[in-house]
Amino acid sequence: MPRKNVYVTRMLPEQNMEDLRKCFDVEVNPHDRELSKAELKEMVKGRDAVISLLTDVIDGEVLDAAGPQLKIVANYAVGFNNLDLAAATQRGVILTNTPGVLDDATATLAFSLLLAVARRIPETDKFVRDGKWNGWSPTLLIGLDVDRKTLGIAGLGRIGQNLARKAKGFDMKIIYADFKRNMEFEKQFGATFVDKEMLLRESDFLTLHVPLLPETRHYIGSTELKMMKKTAVLINTSRGPVVDEAALVKALKEKEIWGAGLDVFENEPALATGLSDLDNVVILPHIASATMGTRIAMGNIAVENVIKVLGGQPPDTCVNPAVLNK
Ligand code: DGY
Repeated sequence: MPRKNVYVTRMLPEQNMEDLRKCFDVEVNPHDRELSKAELKEMVKGRDAVISLLTDVIDGEVLDAAGPQLKIVANYAVGFNNLDLAAATQRGVILTNTPGVLDDATATLAFSLLLAVARRIPETDKFVRDGKWNGWSPTLLIGLDVDRKTLGIAGLGRIGQNLARKAKGFDMKIIYADFKRNMEFEKQFGATFVDKEMLLRESDFLTLHVPLLPETRHYIGSTELKMMKKTAVLINTSRGPVVDEAALVKALKEKEIWGAGLDVFENEPALATGLSDLDNVVILPHIASATMGTRIAMGNIAVENVIKVLGGQPPDTCVNPAVLNK
């Protein structure tokens, strides 16, 4: 029997590529950049499986270009707002993601951003490198206290809960907003369930962990920023469009909030006008899951899902389960 054919839209860690090549004929995007829509449509033609990235929009057009033999698109990310679930289900294509294995890395990066903004680390590093330091001073580059402050978590999924665990080491008070309460979490962390307005008004540090959905687009905009404390810090490691970036630039400029730490942006890799001119924001290139172990673990899930589906079994992490009953 001919080997099944898998297309990978961007090179994965070598270990994952080796595992794939053991079982399938594999072709990978040779460029160190994402594919254009036209390239993607051309490259997926005739494949049995595709491993995609969060930057690849997998919609009906791409699925049709692939053809009816396509069984699975395994997204190399936990977030899957780039996948059209209905279009895939309609065409009998299984979609999967990589949940669980990036909670530690993402929560660690969110907390790193929180500390970096609070203690102005990039700004102070630059200050020293620029030769501006002329000795110790009681008022030099004063930051914010973190210990015992209030951490607000918007979206209490695995990553939000993981971050709460880390924050407990700083004796932070935890409040959270979600579409449902989690009594066990509240008991374990002494956390308080609040509505969105209370979350905005009470948080010293507000960290976003909601998925990108029509109802979470611009979850934070100018109205919300105005409700936050002047000393508050906003952290976003979820998806860029959850924050109205232009409104954030304005709020940071006008010191409506103290600062922000961002790993994700509305139009990656472009930044909103003026964002990179500001000292009170720390900006990272969407690297929350970028640790060696995490990236391999994400690849393991994607590869395993492809192996299972092309072997006629259900995958471990399907995001359009309706397709399995078709
Ligand atoms: C994800 O997996 O959704 C992250 O944004 C990238 O690892």
